[in-house]
Amino acid sequence: MIAAIATRVWARQAMAANGLARRGLSTTSGGLAVEVYNPSGEKRVVVTKMLPGTRWLDILTKKLGARVEVLTDAKYAPTIVPNSAIVDLIGDKCDGVLGQLTEDWSAETFGALKQAGGVVYSNYAVGYNNVNVDDATAANIAVGNTPGVLTETTAEITAALTLAAARRVVEADEFMRAGKYLGWLPDLFVGKLLQRGTLGLIGAGRIGSAYAKMMVEGHYMDLVYFDKFQNQKLEDYMKGYSDFLESQGEKGITCTRVDTVEEVLSASDVVSLHPLLDKTTHHLINKERLSIMKDDAILVNAARGPVVDEVALVAHLQANPNFRCGLDVFEDEPLMKPGLAECPNATIVPHIASASLWTRGGMATLAAQNISAFLQGQPGYDSQDMTPFVDGPFDAMPESCPSIVNMDSIKRN
Ligand SMILES: NC(=O)c1ccc[n+]([C@@H]2O[C@H](COP(=O)([O-])OP(=O)(O)OC[C@H]3O[C@@H](n4cnc5c(N)ncnc54)[C@H](O)[C@@H]3O)[C@@H](O)[C@H]2O)c1
Repeated sequence: MIAAIATRVWARQAMAANGLARRGLSTTSGGLAVEVYNPSGEKRVVVTKMLPGTRWLDILTKKLGARVEVLTDAKYAPTIVPNSAIVDLIGDKCDGVLGQLTEDWSAETFGALKQAGGVVYSNYAVGYNNVNVDDATAANIAVGNTPGVLTETTAEITAALTLAAARRVVEADEFMRAGKYLGWLPDLFVGKLLQRGTLGLIGAGRIGSAYAKMMVEGHYMDLVYFDKFQNQKLEDYMKGYSDFLESQGEKGITCTRVDTVEEVLSASDVVSLHPLLDKTTHHLINKERLSIMKDDAILVNAARGPVVDEVALVAHLQANPNFRCGLDVFEDEPLMKPGLAECPNATIVPHIASASLWTRGGMATLAAQNISAFLQGQPGYDSQDMTPFVDGPFDAMPESCPSIVNMDSIKRN
């Protein structure tokens, strides 16, 4: 009884926090508390966490006309939903699932979805390293993701972590709150100036490029990058910016693509990681590579935790007090490796890089539209501009799937 009341209270709080004005029907599904919208809908779509905004719900209930069941069970509210609960939630009949990057989408969960007649899963994230796409494809299940709405938001947190680490903002905040400030001192929280320093990027895709523009334009930094591919657009942009600076009588900046990770590490005052996580980038930053970075360098990771060997990083932070890092992601999320929390030279936030209201609402819209459009037999979208889905009129939304990563491998009826 108490648990049931707690569940309802939590569900209402979550809806209020998410700006979800409409109430669903509180009931249970597979033994789990859910909130049901459009109960008489013919298709059934399951959503494993309540999402921000209402556009996503309108897409699923009005455009698709589906019954939508959102998991609101208090047991899983603040934490990762395990496979067993996902399988229970999918039940006997489920056409599609909208799930989270913290969940394990592989043979077991895709098997349950296929068994229930499901044909589409959409990740509420741009990265999909939690999804075994081969397992999905083997089950003939389409996999969606949400590119194009996380870029600037993630770049902004990367810039925030860089500045916080460089200028020791969190340490100073804690000091102030602890009542330790007794007066201005010449050596109180002396940090690192970024102006005219060197910025290193590993992975110069969408987010890396957006972050580089913020840092280079804001702090006149020279840019060095390593990527498997040349980013000509970024290089042209930086050349144009440098020409502009020179036209204003200021010193220009440089942008250089280098052949190795090591060249970025040894040259840079700030190194920011923006590759996707795969076999080639697992522990890309390790003990040896940390040792070639400048003693007072800043390492920022808002990509994926396992890109950094976190044990090696803790040892490096402990041995080099002037070395700093800014981390949004962790190797064993939600856990941290022993010692990290005690390092004053680490600025750490709980995977909030995409947590702006516009982005989280946009992600929900894209993930829902992937499911709705796919179930209606609509094609893939032929542009990278996601604004018609996210900001355009509801009735003029493109009739296509924003991003299905295995579209070409799926057989459709
Ligand atoms: N912290 C968060 O909440 C958050 C939010 C969004 C994205 N991300 C992560 O950021 C990553 C990058 O996102 P994006 O939108 O910029 O992706 P993107 O595909 O535009 O860019 C990734 C870049 O990494 C490069 N790359 C791949 N393997 C490499 C390697 N071995 N060495 C160097 N470069 C390599 C690619 O060539 C590409 O240019 C995502 O895969 C995701 O994991 C994290």
